[in-house]
Amino acid sequence: MTDPVVVSTVAELDQVLAGSTRPRAVVPTMGALHPGHAALVRAARESVGPDGTVVATVFVNPTQFGAGEDLDRYPRTLPDDVVLAGAAGCDVVFAPAATEVYGPAGRFRHDSVTIDPGPLGDVLEGAVRPGHFRGVLTVVAKLLALTGPDVAMFGEKDYQQLVLITRMAADLSLPTRIVPVATVREADGLALSSRNRYLSAAEREDALVLSRALRAVEAAVGEGAERALAAGREVLAERPSVAVDYLGRTDPALGPAPEHGPARVLVAARVGTTRLIDNKAVLVP
Ligand code: PAF
Repeated sequence: MTDPVVVSTVAELDQVLAGSTRPRAVVPTMGALHPGHAALVRAARESVGPDGTVVATVFVNPTQFGAGEDLDRYPRTLPDDVVLAGAAGCDVVFAPAATEVYGPAGRFRHDSVTIDPGPLGDVLEGAVRPGHFRGVLTVVAKLLALTGPDVAMFGEKDYQQLVLITRMAADLSLPTRIVPVATVREADGLALSSRNRYLSAAEREDALVLSRALRAVEAAVGEGAERALAAGREVLAERPSVAVDYLGRTDPALGPAPEHGPARVLVAARVGTTRLIDNKAVLVP
C-alpha cells in the first residue's frame, strides 16, 4: 500500500485525476477520521476494486455550521487523517481551504446558488440546525462535481444526511451512485463520531444512553409506537444531564412512521457541550 497523494487545490486534483478511466469512488469527510471513516474507505476500495481510484475529501465545511456551533473547535487532524485513509486503501486525499471551495469569501455569499433540501431538510436535525442541510447538500454537490466519482460512500450514522444526499442524487439525476455504509460502534454501543473526542470520561458514560435508548425502542417495538418511544425516553431520562433534542420514529425514507415493516428510530441530544446523534433500523411486526 502506498501513501495517498495529498492535494489541496482543484488544479492539483484535476491533474492527479486527469485522463483516468478507472472506476472512481469518493468518501467525503470533514476529517478527524476514525474507524468509521476507515470503513467508508474500505467500502470504497471494495466497490472500485484494486485498480480503481479512491478519493477521500477532508473539508470542514463552514456552510453547514450554524452560528454558535462548533466550526472553530471542530478537530483538524490532517496528517493523522492521511495515514488512516491510506491504511484503509485511499489513493488521493483532497483537503482544500474554504476559499478553494467557495471563492474568496470562503462561504456562501448573499447571491450564491445553493441546493434546497426540500421539506425533509426542515425536520429532525433540520429543525434544530436551520440551514444545515442546505450547506451539506451544496458542498456534497460541489465535491461530487470536483471529484467526478462513479460511487460515493456515506455513513448511516448521519442517517438524515444519507437520505437527503440519496434524494439529491436521484432528484437531480446525478451520475454518482450513493452507497450507504453501516455505523461503526464501540464495543459498548457508542456510535463512532469525530465529536466523541470532545467528551470527558463522565460525559462518554452519559452518551451511552443514546444507543441504549435506541435498543430499548427496538425491544418494545411490538408494543405500539407510543409505548416503544416511551421505553426509549425512560432510558434517556436515566441521565438527566443529557439534553434530548428529539427521539422519533420514521419510515426508512424519513416519512411518517409505518404501522408495520421497516422503520428508523433517530435520536439527538447534547451531552455537556457536545451534540450527538444516533439511529437504528427497526422492524415493526
Ligand atoms: O458527514 C460529513 O462529514 C459531512 O457532513 C460531509 C458529508 C462531508 C459534508 O461536509
